[in-house]
Amino acid sequence: MSEAIDVRKGLVGVYADESSVSKVMPETNSLTYRGYAVQDLCEEASFDEVAYLLWNGELPNPQQLREFQAAEKAERALSPALLRVLRDFPRDAHPMDAIRTAVSFMGMEDPECADISDAAQRRKAVRLLARIPTAVAATNRLSKGLDPIAPDASLPFCENFFHMVFGKVPAKEVIKAFDVSMILYAEHTFNASTFAARVVTSTMADIHGAITAGIAALKGPLHGGANEAVMHMLKEIPSPEAAEAWLRERFDHKALVMGFGHRVYKNGDSRVPTMKKYAEIMAEVVGDKRWMNTSAVLAKVMLEEKRIHPNLDFPAGPAYYLMGFDIPMFTPIFVCSRITGWAAHVLEQAADNRLIRPLSLYNGLEQRPVVPLAQRG
Ligand code: SDX
Repeated sequence: MSEAIDVRKGLVGVYADESSVSKVMPETNSLTYRGYAVQDLCEEASFDEVAYLLWNGELPNPQQLREFQAAEKAERALSPALLRVLRDFPRDAHPMDAIRTAVSFMGMEDPECADISDAAQRRKAVRLLARIPTAVAATNRLSKGLDPIAPDASLPFCENFFHMVFGKVPAKEVIKAFDVSMILYAEHTFNASTFAARVVTSTMADIHGAITAGIAALKGPLHGGANEAVMHMLKEIPSPEAAEAWLRERFDHKALVMGFGHRVYKNGDSRVPTMKKYAEIMAEVVGDKRWMNTSAVLAKVMLEEKRIHPNLDFPAGPAYYLMGFDIPMFTPIFVCSRITGWAAHVLEQAADNRLIRPLSLYNGLEQRPVVPLAQRG
């Protein structure tokens, strides 16, 4: 009698490989990037320092950071060809489809596209880090009949993004909250979109293909798309006072409550306290506490009734709304950050590669003869 085969649907609890990029510790509800606690990075480092850390394994010194920032600034502009393509996108296309397509086009026009050497992949990663925000901002403005705003190489990464979206740079409190969200969203071990990028890389395909796959996976509401779904959910609730009744009605329909639950964290997502702090700062800066007050009620009832904790998308949604971003931009902003984690995993997979090809346990019909067409009833 052959022993029972252990099929793990969704790869729940399966260690598919080793990785040194980040570590999630559910038992202590903590997360480290290359050994640094993410909360410490949010307070002591900027997003571009974290991008350098994820790709190089160490935080940059001042000279290394200046060189990295200069390389990123030099690559922010989109080609005239890509700008023409963006202008032809359907006005109502979802921005995640737009950025997925834009990244694919960036690959087609990249002279090093087919070169999967570590050095070339690193150069392409910088180009993607620099250009994805430009494409996200441009498609958002084009969808509203506005002209794109060219990137400003004199501005730091986060300030430049606001400049390209809104035409101005907000107060430093807003920039700090955005920078923190970018650090928190950057990396999270073998989440679905990162694993998709690793699968593509394992076939020796190029980084643009891997990132395109990551974007496609991140769009889903069970994954990155949840931050948009959270804001749509919060806007459905008439007031904080109506939140509990609204939630209990969803319990009756066994509906998912977006922004809650996590495959790995079962006692809370380590990133939530930090993101919640900065979402509350945004509520103070804007003078609108409705969304965080409603969120507090939902989190309390979900914990009491379901023992389910919020994940990062739950505070990130209202934070981005309070920063003034259109809701369909929330997951593309997640892409602007997660390109750093995805690229780190692409480099790691390629450096010690084995084609990713799991097995499937067959549960279909036993073998049978083909009946000729004329005899099929
Ligand atoms: C991200 O993996 C990562 O690291 C992802 C991420 C990253 O940084 O890359 O952290 C980013 O994707 C965060 C997750 C964002 N998604 C959502 O907020 C969507 C809502 N969440 C659920 O869909 C769910 O919690 C998942 C998909 C996140 C996790 O699903 P699992 O691990 O398969 O958990 P499960 O479905 O087995 O849940 C166990 C139980 C189930 O009830 P029963 O069938 O046992 O009765 O908890 C229930 C679930 O129905 N449950 C929920 C719920 N999440 C779990 N019930 C209501 N609302 C929810 N949100």
